[in-house]
Amino acid sequence: MKIGIIGAGMVGGATANALVLTGAADEVVLVDALADRAVAEAEDVLHATPFGHDARVFAGGYDRLGGAEVVVLSAGVPQKPGETRLQLLGRNAEVFGAVIPQVLRAAPDCLLVVAANPVDVMTLVARRLSGLPAERVIGSGTILDTARFRACLAGHLGVAPSSVHAYVLGEHGDSEVLCWSQAAAGGVPAPSFAEQAGRPLTAEVRAAIDGDVRRAAYRIIRGKGATWYGIAGGIARIVRAIGRDERAVLTVSAVAEGLGGGRPVALSLPRIVGRDGVLMTLHPQLSEEEQTLLERSAAALREAAGGRW
Ligand code: LAC
Repeated sequence: MKIGIIGAGMVGGATANALVLTGAADEVVLVDALADRAVAEAEDVLHATPFGHDARVFAGGYDRLGGAEVVVLSAGVPQKPGETRLQLLGRNAEVFGAVIPQVLRAAPDCLLVVAANPVDVMTLVARRLSGLPAERVIGSGTILDTARFRACLAGHLGVAPSSVHAYVLGEHGDSEVLCWSQAAAGGVPAPSFAEQAGRPLTAEVRAAIDGDVRRAAYRIIRGKGATWYGIAGGIARIVRAIGRDERAVLTVSAVAEGLGGGRPVALSLPRIVGRDGVLMTLHPQLSEEEQTLLERSAAALREAAGGRW
């Protein structure tokens, strides 16, 4: 499968690398206004292919996107230390206005995977600017937050993250909802598993895990200026589900008709992802508190989008 990546910064470069090492792509083309950066990232990732999967990796202009089944939009400015994701909106919406028409001219049949923050509103922006059906515009959403939740909960429970089932839904950001009511390990509800393992999920433990997940990006940005490996892994996971038509359930962002009433908003729910993008959106049975928090998250995103999107 041929994948285009618009934006060869830290996220774009790490995504190219993740695609190659996981075998999610046969061909990766990196496009960036800074051509030298794109060429250098492409060459660096190409040198990793012998350690992963054979893939063609190169840099080029939009004209090289022809035939790409998926185009990843990682172009945009990253958060500054302490800056919220929603504060990036204006700057990154301008970038998308310049980028998306050029992408669709070269690859009119592609699916878009949005990675620029604030990713939920940027998914709405990409849907509006591209005119593509909502199911063909997928935001990375809370795929990374769900992974963080599963990893942190697994660490407390003393079990492999792959054996933990848990969702983070709503905004990829401060209003995201950790769905404790859905959390389980080995098919056993998390509280029961925790008691059996002698590692109770006290209020203090839950608060600590919530902070570890919700504030992860802020901590990492303070330490190294940005995050890129985690999100790159999440993007590669989405691309793999598309490329292999996996029909995998992933918490990704897509435009959904007015959750909690009001204008359409893009936020993360569990969604079945396959060759044609989002095949189905699931509505899990949440606790009353979680449902209320999810609707508040939708309202926060609706407010952030303003009347413009
Ligand atoms: C993070 C960025 C991708 O959460 O928003 O690491």
